[in-house]
Amino acid sequence: MNERSTLFAEAEFFIKQCYAELNLTEEAAELRLKEIADEIEQSGTYSHTYEELRHGARMAWRNSNRCIGRLPWDSLHVVDKRNASSEEEIAAALLEHLDYAANRGRIRPTITILRPEQGELPGARVWNEQLIRYAGYARKDGSRIGDPASLEFTVICEQLGWQGDGTDFDVLPLVIQLDGRAPKWFEVPREHVLEVDIRHSELAGFNELGLKWYAVPAVSNMRLEIGGIRYSGAPFNGWYMGTEIGARNLADEGRYNLLPVVADLMGIDRSRRSTLWQDRALVELNVAVLESYRAAGVSMVDHHTAAAQFESFEKREREAGREVTGNWAWLIPPMAPATTHVFHKRYDNTIVKPNFFYGKKPYASKETADSKDAAQNAPACPMHAASKPMVCPVTGAGL
Ligand code: ARG
Repeated sequence: MNERSTLFAEAEFFIKQCYAELNLTEEAAELRLKEIADEIEQSGTYSHTYEELRHGARMAWRNSNRCIGRLPWDSLHVVDKRNASSEEEIAAALLEHLDYAANRGRIRPTITILRPEQGELPGARVWNEQLIRYAGYARKDGSRIGDPASLEFTVICEQLGWQGDGTDFDVLPLVIQLDGRAPKWFEVPREHVLEVDIRHSELAGFNELGLKWYAVPAVSNMRLEIGGIRYSGAPFNGWYMGTEIGARNLADEGRYNLLPVVADLMGIDRSRRSTLWQDRALVELNVAVLESYRAAGVSMVDHHTAAAQFESFEKREREAGREVTGNWAWLIPPMAPATTHVFHKRYDNTIVKPNFFYGKKPYASKETADSKDAAQNAPACPMHAASKPMVCPVTGAGL
């Protein structure tokens, strides 16, 4: 099958399902498919109607195997910015996205869809992992400031000419690339960044840590695929589940690593792991996150409620005659997983389209490029490197 017939086959699969779900007739779908066939014939690609785009994006959310928050998939707000034709216009669209989504705290699940790939042209890409994320800096003495998850991307931003203030919570600039040209960066003005100070009502010293997090988690490094069309720039957001921040972003050793700090404030003995200082600190940190978002009037779901909502989603999908696919390892929450029904079930991790996909990073900083080279030149482990003819180190037989 050539590229065009693959594209048409994907379009056909999508259009039929989409039109059926929207209660449009089979004739309407057939007519539309004729139109699409002509368009592909003439231009090598085709363009979705807004209705197709909207429902396709919602289906992609519904099919996201790692997401426990899929219950409201059908209410995703879909913003069509396929016509934004400069980096400046795109940056403005992304700031609008942040404002609409944040909604002064009553977060609205939103996706902004930018220009897709067209033939050789890669369309629009946002280099950031999320529209809002904090920078990470490595000091010479080995210590770190900010979010270590952003170390590489922060270097990229600096190479492009951006400079952060060097705090633990510097909001990274938006880095936007159109059709493979050099990327442009744009500062995100403060008024577009809703944040919540993380406080604990009982734990002395906690508020002085000066912790905060942002309100809108807007993933911007995944490609949306609908009916064979690849939208590499399609940032989307829901609202946070507390554990994402309290049990991962602020807690992971490779992130803000705050469990020892919180445990010390709680006065727990950290000399033995079996005091469960990590578990006890986790609970208080997560209570602080949930209570702080609640007090600030910013939408957030706890993991127990999220799991209960996921169970409703499973029931609704069953009633609609659809199979729910899921990735168990991602669906279970990182705290008390066995208290949720998800833990006690199996999920089918088949990837159904439309869906969101990770692609290759659009950048590699000098450091990571160097370390990759180094890895390639390093003597390979004889058990795993199969590129050279090898002899089994145990039996001497050729592998
Ligand atoms: N886990 C990511 C973070 O902590 C966000 C991923 C999307 N999360 C969401 N609730 N929609 O920033």
